[in-house]
Amino acid sequence: MLGLYIHIPFCKQKCFYCNFFSEKYDTVLVDKYIDALTDYAVQFKNKKIDSIYIGGGTPSVLSLKQIQKLLQALNNIFSLSIMQEFTFELNPESTSESKLKILKNYGVNRLSIGLQSVEDKSLKFLGRIHGFKAFCTAYDMALKEGFSNINIDLIYGLPGQNMQDWEKALEKVLLLNSQHLSLYPLSIEQSTSFFETGISTNDDIQRDMYDKTIEILAENGYNHYEVSNWAKRDGESFHNSNYWRNFEYIGLGAGAAGYFERRRYKNVANVQRYINLIKNNVDLKTENEYIDDKLYKTETIILGLRLLNEGVNIDCFSAYKHYKTLSECLKDKTLKKENNKIKIAKKYVFVFNQIVSKFID
Ligand SMILES: C[S@@+](CC[C@H](N)C(=O)[O-])C[C@H]1O[C@@H](n2cnc3c(N)ncnc32)[C@H](O)[C@@H]1O
Ligand code: SF4
Repeated sequence: MLGLYIHIPFCKQKCFYCNFFSEKYDTVLVDKYIDALTDYAVQFKNKKIDSIYIGGGTPSVLSLKQIQKLLQALNNIFSLSIMQEFTFELNPESTSESKLKILKNYGVNRLSIGLQSVEDKSLKFLGRIHGFKAFCTAYDMALKEGFSNINIDLIYGLPGQNMQDWEKALEKVLLLNSQHLSLYPLSIEQSTSFFETGISTNDDIQRDMYDKTIEILAENGYNHYEVSNWAKRDGESFHNSNYWRNFEYIGLGAGAAGYFERRRYKNVANVQRYINLIKNNVDLKTENEYIDDKLYKTETIILGLRLLNEGVNIDCFSAYKHYKTLSECLKDKTLKKENNKIKIAKKYVFVFNQIVSKFID
């Protein structure tokens, strides 16, 4: 099992809430970036990959030619014959029929489209450059091109949004009948416009919305398989589930993280520097840590508990600290044991981070 994540750190415009690493799209810079990234990837020649995720940033902002060049290079370098899931992220305004056709030709079999809100007023507030109609056009186009496995990203708990607004939003999204939904409470991140202008959110409202979401999506046939992710039958993301199973993946691109040959690393988050370092054959990692057995177990617990139905094998809790914490959590019923699996109790999923932080030394 080996995944591949490719970061495309380019956007047309920065959304006001987002602190993911991305720079302004520039076609000349992107050409150089793809060349550098694919040159660098040659060291993994013929590696067998069973899932790919091309994320961003905004992968769909790339031109048709740039997308084709990237996908062709991946085909030449990696061995993709055992590919199970190949996801490409799209933003509504930069989706086109011709881009979708190229994706299909190169074996992309899952799309993730960022919608964020169904209301144009809120989309504007978030700094998005598309309306709900543009999303529907992109979504319909994707269906028409034969993509049946599509994820939709949405953010809830925006300032001024009440429960009724959110329920209406969910109703609208359910009509789209997508295979997968990723739903996130708005979080105010440092160095974003929202942080700088002092926008705030309400934890209690977000919690109520989360509980309501769980209820509504269950009634509509979605399996709540991860803290923020819901899927129709067999629609769970294979690639992302493998992150949570603590399986290895190669991370390519500026700002990308990876976990390969027991080392967890992060690449430099600056496009020009990334290109220069590759040209000069200099190490481009800003973090690079060997994961020893103890840390491996801690990470397996923290990541694995995110998989709400799958949980973590009890054998992983053999270290004294983990065993002791587990006993306490079973006692206060924040965690539960089912056969030989440890899972988070549904009631505590919203405060997931608080619970799992107890396992960290
Ligand atoms: C890295 S973004 C890339 C997706 C794509 N470029 C887009 O804009 O739709 C992945 C997702 O994280 C979510 N996200 C990013 N920042 C967030 C924040 N501050 N609060 C809540 N969700 C956020 C959004 O739903 C977004 O679609
Ligand atoms: S949310 Fe997506 S489009 Fe907006 S800045 Fe972040 S990565 Fe770019």
